[in-house]
Amino acid sequence: MSSGLTLPKAELHLHIEGTLEPELVFDLARRNGVALPFETVEDLRRRYVFDDLQSFLDLYYLAMAVLRTAQDFTDLTDAYLAKAREQGVRHAEIFFDPQAHTSRGVALSEVVAGLTAALRTSRERFGISTRLIACFLRDRGPEEALATWEALQPHLEQIDGVGLDSAEVGHPPQLFEPVFARARDAGLHVVAHAGEEGPPEYVWQAIDVLGVERVDHGIRSVEDRALLHRLATDRTPLTVCPLSNVRLRCVPELSRHPLPKLLDAGLLVTVNSDDPSYFGGYVGDNFVALRDALGLDDATLRQLAADSFRASFLPEGDRDALI
Ligand code: ADE
Ligand code: ZN
Repeated sequence: MSSGLTLPKAELHLHIEGTLEPELVFDLARRNGVALPFETVEDLRRRYVFDDLQSFLDLYYLAMAVLRTAQDFTDLTDAYLAKAREQGVRHAEIFFDPQAHTSRGVALSEVVAGLTAALRTSRERFGISTRLIACFLRDRGPEEALATWEALQPHLEQIDGVGLDSAEVGHPPQLFEPVFARARDAGLHVVAHAGEEGPPEYVWQAIDVLGVERVDHGIRSVEDRALLHRLATDRTPLTVCPLSNVRLRCVPELSRHPLPKLLDAGLLVTVNSDDPSYFGGYVGDNFVALRDALGLDDATLRQLAADSFRASFLPEGDRDALI
């Protein structure tokens, strides 16, 4: 086994709403009586061509209008876990976007109940342990993030961490210092998207102001030698998403992806799928695409897979058992 497709791995950067496949969009639209602005599955799939992060987010938020009940979130998560199992995933730390649902009238209790119903049985049904991370939508601002933090209070038993996602440029991490301080004080893990489209300065803010334990994406760190040195010294993991970076035009083509430079600089890098339904591949597919485009050898693929467990929020003993 050398391709990386089924190599045992952890997935640490996965938006559950980004696993919504076009077929499920149509099934759920029918089940919930939601009218769609697309005629067919093929019509929807044809729109999966993006100019940048915002053009993707527009479709991502539109399609998730079909998610209405706890059962919808359970079905979505079960479908992801089944797929992840085929791609060698043994542990998944899953993002969800509370505000993307509450803002359209779906109760947070419904969302969390649906997600956790699937996650509860994941280990026995799919052999995958899980964590759940609630992300704040940075383009909705720090006040709404604080209100969302309050709304999450009754659900903190089910939530392992908080993150920061959505449109990056113009929404720097430092604005979210108050809500991240609260999450840290409550003992939650903290991560943030930074340096996907945004500048290295946003990565500095994520680590120095928000105190994140991992940086999601972080690829623009290659532009700042001092930042690379800091990330390498602290062993702060980056959750890199190669197919996403190409589809959202953060990187012109996979053969020019900065991942080898990040590895050469001594960073702890992991490979992930981000929004696999939209970007042409699940996590194992990202490993295979990297091997083909960059000529990564088996030892490097094995290192990336092992480092995915090292960068996870699993306790050390559980991590070591998986490596
Ligand atoms: N939400 C879902 N996918 C995202 C990405 N790649 N960047 C920022 N926010 C997101
Ligand atoms: Zn992401």
